Order: sequence, then C-alpha cells, then structure tokens
Amino acid sequence: MTDKHPDIIPATPAGLARAGEALRSGELVAFPTETVYGLGGDATDDRAVAAIFAAKGRPQFNPLIAHVPDLEAAEAIAVLDERAVELAHQFWPGPLTLVLPRRAEAGLSLLVSAGLDSVAVRVPAHPVAQALLKAASKPIAAPSANRSGAVSPTAPHHVIESLGDRVSMVVAGGKCQVGVESTVLDLTGETPVLLRPGAVLREEIERLIGPIQLSAGNPDAPKSPGQLESHYAPNAPVRLNATSAEEDEAFLTFGPDRFIRGGKARLNLSLQGDLNEAAANLFAHLRALDQEGVRAIAVMPIPDEGLGVAINDRLRRAAAPRG
Ligand code: TXA
Ligand code: MG
Repeated sequence: MTDKHPDIIPATPAGLARAGEALRSGELVAFPTETVYGLGGDATDDRAVAAIFAAKGRPQFNPLIAHVPDLEAAEAIAVLDERAVELAHQFWPGPLTLVLPRRAEAGLSLLVSAGLDSVAVRVPAHPVAQALLKAASKPIAAPSANRSGAVSPTAPHHVIESLGDRVSMVVAGGKCQVGVESTVLDLTGETPVLLRPGAVLREEIERLIGPIQLSAGNPDAPKSPGQLESHYAPNAPVRLNATSAEEDEAFLTFGPDRFIRGGKARLNLSLQGDLNEAAANLFAHLRALDQEGVRAIAVMPIPDEGLGVAINDRLRRAAAPRG
C-alpha cells in the first residue's frame, strides 16, 4: 500500500467486481453492513486474516465473524442444528450472528476462530454486503472496521478516520441503518447463550427456541473472547446516567432535552425517544462529541428495553475502566 488514503469506491457493478477481486487476491476491503462497516478479508486465507488482526491491533485470541450470503453458504462452513435453522429462516439475512460448530473440512483459516472448534456466522442484509459476498464468492471474515477497542464505524469516513491506509479500499454504502453490531448467540451448547445484545432481541429469539442464558454475570457460560471490559471507547471518558452536564463536558441526550442543563457541546440520540433512531446515531454522535476536546462525555439514561439493551451494553463498555 503506497497511497496515503484508501480509495472509496462506489457500489456499482464495476466497483463491486474490483472489490471482489481484491478480496480474492488477499487484500482487505471495508464494506457496509446494516449494523456497522466491516473490515473484510478472505476467511480461507491465513495471510488475509492475519492482516485483519494487524490492521485493527486486535488480540489474536478474539475470533472473527465469517460472513456469507445465505443459509446454504453457512451450512458449508458450520453445522446448523434445528434451532440454528429456525433462527436462520426467521432472521437471515439480518443482524444475528450464530456461533456454531465449525466444519474443519471447509478450509477456514484457524485464525478466524482463534483456534476454537466453533465459528461465528453471519448473513448480512445490506444489499452492498450481499453483492460483495457474491462477487468475492468466499466466506469473508469481518470485524468492525475500527482500531480494536475504539468506537465502531457507521459511515465510510469513520473507517478512514480509524484505519487510514491500513485498509486499501472502502466500498461506499451510506450510513448504517441499525448502527450497533449484530446480536451474537452461542449455539454450541445445550442452552443457547447470548454473547452480545443487538437488533435481534432476546425476546424474539426466545419466542422461537425457548429460554436462553445471558453471558454477563454467568460464570459457567462460555465467554465470548471479545467481551473485554473496555470497548467502543472514545478518547474522552464517558459518564453514564447523567441528568445534567458540567460546562466542560459534552452531553449526549435522549428524548426531549430542552429543560435539561449543561454541556459545552450537545447531541441528541433521538428527540422523539425512539430507540432505533438512537442506536443508529450512537457511534456517530460519540465520535462527534469526542472531537470537541471535552473533559468527559456525559450520557443521559437510556431505557433498557428493545434496542436500548444493546445501546446500554455498548455504553457500559465505553465507560468501563481503560486497560
Ligand atoms: O454487526 C457485526 O457483527 C459486525 C459487522 C461487520 O458484521 N461485526 C462485528 O465483528 O461486530 P466483531 O469482530 O467486532 O465482533 C465479533 C464478536 C466478538 O465479540 C467476538 O469475540 C465474537 O463475536 N465471536 C466471534 N467468533 C466467536 C466464537 N467462535 N466464539 C465466541 N465468540 C465469538
Ligand atoms: Mg468490534
């Protein structure tokens, strides 16, 4: 890579063909999904997968999600039991990642799974992601396209701000609609375990396959290696459940905020108090407030229901003590 900045390429047939070709030849390509932008590499190519870890500064023990275009492609790399197939029919393509037994014969790089017998599989719904996966015709390993531990990207320029020339191209696809990463559900054991909350809600999963466990606070549950405490962290410290902000703080508000005091800079996640809108704005607003050079970012309480569960999960990690 000699260019200082990666190319942003349009999601035209020619652009997608070029990006697919780049992936097949081992290059890294950032691309949009409905959740966040991913940093993609050929999941069957050790060198491409190693390059993903290097570009992100990600610890190698934290496995990656393999992205495929449909259920059939998922079945080629992982073993789906009845529960998995039912969930796939209901929620794929969409923001649900399933951790499943890995098919050793499928030829995925072991780095994708960080040496585990399982693999996380996701079928994204974004039309550009779908088209790129078809153009690449390989399973694509893709973590969020940011430096490890930092705020996830929900627009092409976030990828460039975060990764710079560590990525050679970004396929354009506008703003991500969901805005927080996929729900991750571990189906390798008898009881399903929710490893990460997202837009597919716990209640929706339980309606289909019965009770699931929450990994947080459950010492017996298999832990997602990615559940490092501090994550999604802006530079400024984050202060949660704030009902007002100091004059040297930024203020991230939610719902009507006209009569709430304080904050040197202020952004509202959703004036109407809509949690889906709030999720879509979360990471972009955190980035923008972080650029105000404030002492801290104060955040109003967010209702812990619907997508609020995923928002609060990300905010807690953003506020966690830095390692
Ligand atoms: O929405 C998303 O899922 C985005 C877009 C790009 O698809 N991707 C994403 O990837 O968020 P990443 O790498 O930032 O998060 C993947 C999560 C991590 O917490 C990781 O530890 C967990 O999934 N994970 C991956 N493979 C796993 C496995 N085999 N067992 C347990 N957890 C796994
Ligand atoms: Mg991430």
